[in-house]
Amino acid sequence: MKKLNIGLVGYGFMGRTHSNAFRKAGNFFDLKYEPVLKAVCGQNLEKVTAFSKRWGYEGVETDWRKLIERKDIDLIDIACPNDLHKEIAIAAAKAGKMVLCEKPLSLNSKDGEAMVKAVEKSGVPNMVWYNYRRVPAITLAKKLIDEGRLGRIFHYRAKFLQDWTISKDLPQGGAGLWRLDAKVAGSGVTGDLLAHCIDTATWLNGGMTQVTAMTETFIKERKHTLTGKVQKVEIDDACAFLARFKNGSLATFESTRYARGHKALYTFEINGEHASIFWDLHDLHRLQYFDHRDESQLRGWKSIHVTDSDHPYMSKWWVPGLQIGYEHTFVHQVADFIESLDTKNKPKPDFREALDTQYICDTVLKSARTGKWEKIPALKV
Ligand SMILES: NC(=O)c1ccc[n+]([C@@H]2O[C@H](COP(=O)([O-])OP(=O)(O)OC[C@H]3O[C@@H](n4cnc5c(N)ncnc54)[C@H](O)[C@@H]3O)[C@@H](O)[C@H]2O)c1
Repeated sequence: MKKLNIGLVGYGFMGRTHSNAFRKAGNFFDLKYEPVLKAVCGQNLEKVTAFSKRWGYEGVETDWRKLIERKDIDLIDIACPNDLHKEIAIAAAKAGKMVLCEKPLSLNSKDGEAMVKAVEKSGVPNMVWYNYRRVPAITLAKKLIDEGRLGRIFHYRAKFLQDWTISKDLPQGGAGLWRLDAKVAGSGVTGDLLAHCIDTATWLNGGMTQVTAMTETFIKERKHTLTGKVQKVEIDDACAFLARFKNGSLATFESTRYARGHKALYTFEINGEHASIFWDLHDLHRLQYFDHRDESQLRGWKSIHVTDSDHPYMSKWWVPGLQIGYEHTFVHQVADFIESLDTKNKPKPDFREALDTQYICDTVLKSARTGKWEKIPALKV
């Protein structure tokens, strides 16, 4: 079997999910390439070495540039904070490496455009880890929508709620808290959480035409971990926006890190002419489905346990009735990426598709500033 030599940048939350996926994909899917964990890169030698031993990497690097220079690496996987995505991805593409990049693609659309140009100029396979597309229940939702079962779509409703930044004593910046520092994260909940909702929405329901948004930063100043000084908080703590889709449907999106009691409540509902769909991350292996065409006395919401072998991805796992979880979405993404290497099908979402989500995030933030409806621009690259 051909080898696919991986160089991972970042050994945090996503470094773990990706490493797990590279290790497991070949156990469950028939792959033509064997992912080989060649090297992991992080700035702290002791910590990155401990990570490499735990996950079975052959070696470590403490400078991502060295990782990219290595001749024995085929693919650079970017699992570090958002401000590093652009530089690493462009350097990797120039070096002819395949590039996988965590979401959001970039700090802003301009950086994203440069990244799209770089990977397309080099012609290297590229993909962004919008992993929710590979939750079997969501992949099933896509199938049902594409089959036309919902009919004309009227509404799309999504939210992603958390509660981990409510304390005013929480600092901003540095390891673990870079999401509160706009220079490193780009934005707050819009790029971090709504980017997921937008990617899923545009995949399921097509492109958006315009948005109107409001954002709020509830805690205006926080101590910065790196400077020790109290500094202005520049991220959006909460964001809500209305959107219109090209297919005529209306949408509402909401995200916050101030919804006490919610840790990662990502839900969406789609209402069509004939049927509706509802999905909830806390119950990710189920798809709720209501079809008005059912016999009236028996009509009602069905809770489909997405575990049968004819459900997306499920024939590769256990036996019907036994569910899988969050980490498997990353395994599916690795398997789909590797499968795409020998076909003409590009792995999706690629950088170009993820740039569309970046445009929508930027337009949402622009609308929150102007207080007006703003049009989603056409891709400029
Ligand atoms: N797909 C998803 O569902 C999902 C979930 C969480 C995070 N993310 C994205 O993944 C990325 C990483 O997030 P995370 O939660 O894993 O963050 P994290 O803070 O847990 O880990 C970040 C890692 O990057 C490393 N790093 C920082 N600067 C570096 C440098 N200069 N060189 C090398 N390594 C460096 C850190 O040491 C750390 O290991 C972000 O872009 C984030 O938006 C995606």
